[in-house]
Amino acid sequence: MASWRLLRPFSSRLFSLPMSPIRPSQPARAFTRTNITPSPTKTDTFVELAQARRTIYKLGNDSPVPDSKIEDLVHAAILNVPSAFNTQSTRLLVLLHGEHERLWDVVIQIFEGLVNSGAVPETTWRNQTLPKLLGIKGGVGTILFYEDPAHIQLFSKKFALYKDHFEPWAGHSNAMHQYFLWTALESLGFGANLQHYNPLIDAPVAKQWDIPSDWKLVAQLVFGSPEGSPNEKTQKPIADRVKIYGKL
Ligand SMILES: Cc1cc2nc3c(=O)[nH]c(=O)nc-3n(C[C@H](O)[C@H](O)[C@H](O)COP(=O)(O)O)c2cc1C
Repeated sequence: MASWRLLRPFSSRLFSLPMSPIRPSQPARAFTRTNITPSPTKTDTFVELAQARRTIYKLGNDSPVPDSKIEDLVHAAILNVPSAFNTQSTRLLVLLHGEHERLWDVVIQIFEGLVNSGAVPETTWRNQTLPKLLGIKGGVGTILFYEDPAHIQLFSKKFALYKDHFEPWAGHSNAMHQYFLWTALESLGFGANLQHYNPLIDAPVAKQWDIPSDWKLVAQLVFGSPEGSPNEKTQKPIADRVKIYGKL
């Protein structure tokens, strides 16, 4: 019951509440929070999911879920991740199975051209880049994160005061989509890693999957069955990275 009450528009929530505790000077926000019960369990789960999200490079194509679950997650990300002024400029391209492999064949082909032209040393290619790309290609899918500049420019014109902020804000929102999906895919049992082969691959990818040429590719999230362990991760001291004042 509490949850459907929270989903109703603010005005109907306000009018459905008893009159006595409402004082005109009271901030409206106070009423919107009354039905939320703090849940340590949900918070623990959230933190556990954040801890479980790691970078896994060696991936297999043994999917723990049907593809419809991946589609549901992608829809949940696009519907629930916030954007500045509700810009909604992030775009997602999801490539699964054969289409995922096709993407990484495109990347391998581009690199072979760079090796042939001498731009990438043969030894680096053979010992580092190719094994990494083959590990990635072995996965189940890739989500490509784009920004649609038309929607960012629209808001820059509409809100001149913030015009220079919309592009970085779009980047922030795009990164939130990446983090949402990275963590959510791990929660389904996938391993994942985040890549940035843009802008090297932008044009051939746009051509292959009919992507508008002005969309800007930001990142590629690769996922599959985890076949390796995450690398050891060192942490800088929390005290150097967090300041808290006013703690009771
Ligand atoms: C914004 C961002 C960009 C990253 N770019 C790459 C990348 O281009 N290639 C790559 O292999 N890993 C990339 N990573 C993965 C990081 O190296 C990795 O997250 C970090 O070392 C911490 O390890 P963890 O993910 O296991 O916690 C990126 C991570 C972030 C957050």
